[in-house]
Amino acid sequence: SELLLLNGPNLGILGRREPEVYGTDTLADIEAAVAAEVAGRGWKVVSVQRESEGQLIEAVQDAWDGSVGAIVNPGALMIAGWGLRDALAAYPRPFVEVHLSNVWARESFRHESVLAPIASGVIVGLGALGYRLAAQALLAKVPAS
Ligand code: DQA
Repeated sequence: SELLLLNGPNLGILGRREPEVYGTDTLADIEAAVAAEVAGRGWKVVSVQRESEGQLIEAVQDAWDGSVGAIVNPGALMIAGWGLRDALAAYPRPFVEVHLSNVWARESFRHESVLAPIASGVIVGLGALGYRLAAQALLAKVPAS
């Protein structure tokens, strides 16, 4: 089984990107942490990071059949990524939305996410740990096969 780990714009440069806001873990560190979290269930992590919404939508569509669920950090597409939202609304599996930073402690344009209303849950402000907690949530949510 595959778990989709989907990261949006500017998340490929984690580690070097405003480390005081986003921490020093790289995306590779996060991928490894999520993979370790789900290995016991035999899940494999498929990690996709793209700068553009269209490519993220394609990744969601590609995962429709093969994946058990998704962890999604949409980056700034949280604000107006309506096409990504539609793709995830059609996605037949649960997804958990993750933001490294506490978006509610930041600028008001980050206070609402267009994805949050259709997510199984949202984890914000816990840094890279948030991805591991999202993986645990999906392990708990997806019945063992
Ligand atoms: C982010 C928060 C977003 O508001 C921002 O645009 C990002 C990163 C986070 O992980 O904290 O790119 O999604």
